[in-house]
Amino acid sequence: MLKGRHLIAPCDFSIDEMEYLFDLTKRIISDKNYLRQAANGKIMASLFFEPSTRTRLSFEAAMMRLGGNVLGFADAQSSSTSKGESLADTITVVQSYVDLLVMRNPKEGSALLASRYSQIPVINAGDGGHHHPTQTLTDLVTIRELRGKIDGITIGFCGDLKFGRTVHSLTEALSRYANVNLVFISPSELTIPTYIKRDILKKSNTQFIETERLEKVTGDLDVLYMTRVQRERFLNEEEYLRLKDFYILTPEKLKAAKDDLIIMHPLPRVNEISIKVDSDKRAAYFKQAEYGMYIRMALIAALLGVV
Ligand code: NCD
Repeated sequence: MLKGRHLIAPCDFSIDEMEYLFDLTKRIISDKNYLRQAANGKIMASLFFEPSTRTRLSFEAAMMRLGGNVLGFADAQSSSTSKGESLADTITVVQSYVDLLVMRNPKEGSALLASRYSQIPVINAGDGGHHHPTQTLTDLVTIRELRGKIDGITIGFCGDLKFGRTVHSLTEALSRYANVNLVFISPSELTIPTYIKRDILKKSNTQFIETERLEKVTGDLDVLYMTRVQRERFLNEEEYLRLKDFYILTPEKLKAAKDDLIIMHPLPRVNEISIKVDSDKRAAYFKQAEYGMYIRMALIAALLGVV
């Protein structure tokens, strides 16, 4: 169904294609041996020009669990980019060595550019403050697994909504579902970009509100999506220091929340969720990271056409 396709932006796949991946993921979760050797003999390049723990390792683990091989690098300094090679040249060459390319790059638009030079599938593992579509797949599958469905949810996004690419991608993906209510919780310096409100949410008639006060809305939420203040995208370190601890989720603040709230975070966490919340049954962020590996298995298998 998805053989040979690229995944650059969160709505590149249709709802049906996403559902197909979610169903495949469910099957992998219930039978860890399913697709065990499906990618035997295939190679995935993992090109990380920017730091990552979960995304890179979960992609690599996913490929290994499918029986495939992985090569690549984990920082730009160890690639020829540091000698001045263009991304176009790197991609043109690497795509002739492997069957699938996964790339993270600090420049917005870099994944789209890479896909133009590649005959094989390119997966965007994050392009600057722009998009992170496989985190979106992870987030959607988590909501689906823990809640049964995505339609009808009220989801609060809290923290750095300006630079957080996971928020941008998930918001865009959710705008295609019915009766979704979005609550954007951020300081005024870190609000969700205007283009998302104007070109995506208004056009799709998705309901949203904006507030600075988490405590005002906690009780309304089905999902609370916390985010880290994205230090690396700030031009001014003082502003980062002023905003970094704006929200810290604690057990006290969760007293007003629903019993079946799902607390998510793409991780890494810095200070925005107290570790005291980790033992709350509503904390889903570590489960979410685990699901990220399963959905990446489903995605790789589908793009390679081995399922
Ligand atoms: C996120 C990212 O890289 O955008 N992390 C991830 O992929 N799980 C979130 C972040 O870095 O804050």
